Amino acid sequence: MAPQDALHGWDDAITAQAYAAFTRAYPMYNATSRDLARRARLTTSGLVIDLCGGTGATATAILDLVPPAARVISVDNAPAMQRIGRRLVPDPRLTWIAAAAEDLDDHVPAATADAVVCNSAIWKTDTPEVFTAVRRVLRPGGRFVFNIGGGFAGVHHRDEQTARTGPSLNSLIRQIAARDYGYTPPPADHTPKLSPSTVSRQLAQARMSVLATDIVAQHTTMAEKKAWLSIPVFARPDGDLSHAQRMDILTKAYALTTPQTPTVTSWLVVVAQRPEEQP
Ligand SMILES: C[S@@+](CC[C@H](N)C(=O)[O-])C[C@H]1O[C@@H](n2cnc3c(N)ncnc32)[C@H](O)[C@@H]1O
Repeated sequence: MAPQDALHGWDDAITAQAYAAFTRAYPMYNATSRDLARRARLTTSGLVIDLCGGTGATATAILDLVPPAARVISVDNAPAMQRIGRRLVPDPRLTWIAAAAEDLDDHVPAATADAVVCNSAIWKTDTPEVFTAVRRVLRPGGRFVFNIGGGFAGVHHRDEQTARTGPSLNSLIRQIAARDYGYTPPPADHTPKLSPSTVSRQLAQARMSVLATDIVAQHTTMAEKKAWLSIPVFARPDGDLSHAQRMDILTKAYALTTPQTPTVTSWLVVVAQRPEEQP
């Protein structure tokens, strides 16, 4: 969950700038975007939707795979993110639409999209509504590919355990916040927001079939994790702290780690499909 003073959420110039800089400096969003784009099988696509497309990392991965005459539409409800995206990805095949994912079917004609790709965002949306909207815009047989952060899906790749060599940056942050700012963590709630069974049920309700689900591991470093936690929407801990205080806590926590320590992030990757029409 985003902390309460995450500036103004995603539609904020400072967050958008920090996010875009992170995507260019570190592999995380490019790697996850490329993975999803590859699973969407885009080589003969005519129209692909980049859902919750932010500053264009996923659109770039899609554009790398679609034919030269294809069109890509990036939909996101944060104009501040798209303002940067337009500058970073000036490809004439790409159109930007500022809209909520839940309203996708108000902006894209029914049954026209060959694929919808959504990287690192679906759990922030109203998934039953989004799945219904995605189903409407997909042509029969079209793919819907998305991922869910391991914590939100309640899944952990086995590499998470084997890579662990000490306390996580998050647990150090909580300890320092408690020591220096009297932070009390909220009661732990381990219920996943979007478990694999919830996703399957909601997709079935939207009349889509699941072709594959995979738990994948992304290998990163403490340094990348620190840079990610510096982006205002992701800064921790939650509660009544300013961004400057969170950055003070992060600096102290990071000083207790070794920058090149490997860390592992888990993802649940889902490939769904609008079924082919029955003859
Ligand atoms: C972590 S970024 C991912 C952006 C891009 N897919 C990438 O991989 O770089 C999450 C994006 O989801 C967008 N978002 C969150 N909820 C949304 C919603 N309900 N409708 C449209 N966009 C949404 C945010 O504005 C933000 O740009």
